[in-house]
Amino acid sequence: MSYQAVPLNKAYLLLNHGPTVMISSAFGDKRNIMSAAWSTPLDFDPARVVVIIDKQTYSKELIEASGEFTVLIPSKKIAKQVLQVGTTSGRDIDKFTEFNLTTVAAKTIQAPLITDCLACLECKLIPEPHNQNTYDLYIGEVTAAWADPEVFSEGRWHIKSDQKRSIHYQAGGEFFAIGDSFHID
Ligand SMILES: Cc1cc2nc3c(=O)[nH]c(=O)nc-3n(C[C@H](O)[C@H](O)[C@H](O)COP(=O)(O)O)c2cc1C
Repeated sequence: MSYQAVPLNKAYLLLNHGPTVMISSAFGDKRNIMSAAWSTPLDFDPARVVVIIDKQTYSKELIEASGEFTVLIPSKKIAKQVLQVGTTSGRDIDKFTEFNLTTVAAKTIQAPLITDCLACLECKLIPEPHNQNTYDLYIGEVTAAWADPEVFSEGRWHIKSDQKRSIHYQAGGEFFAIGDSFHID
């Protein structure tokens, strides 16, 4: 599979419907990935996003050290891994190896993308220590955005197969998969 570039001022559309995401990070020879239900677009141009990263996570350490992170939008196909990386710490294991996640090099940052995502954002941290320390709130400027052209093209999602649906977390291992789109005039 290959991803297709998305215009940066349309990158917010990749997050608009609130999917569960994964966040990867890297610093030196260390790399990590976690899951996040809390993310949102913040601005069109320059494209900016917000993610909430708990202060106890290993991800926080790597993101603050490197000034970079990704926001990956996983497909239903890897829902099990979403739960796994969201319930284990990268301090103890390499989650990519442990949970059979295949990495793909990002273009603008060191943190890796992974396969079987619907879309991927590469982000540079806009440091806001007060927000980070007080609210666990991290702002990223999107420096590259990619999508699987089978499911995202011309600024819209087109869900055509069950496994290529975004997933939406409730709690306790319970997810929704996104349903069909509809149009209103
Ligand atoms: C579906 C799901 C959504 C989650 N959402 C968030 C989130 O938005 N923010 C957060 O800090 N942790 C969230 N978590 C928990 C982290 O993914 C979890 O603490 C993870 O183990 C952190 O990994 P790390 O210590 O390797 O960075 C979520 C977990 C799951 C399973």
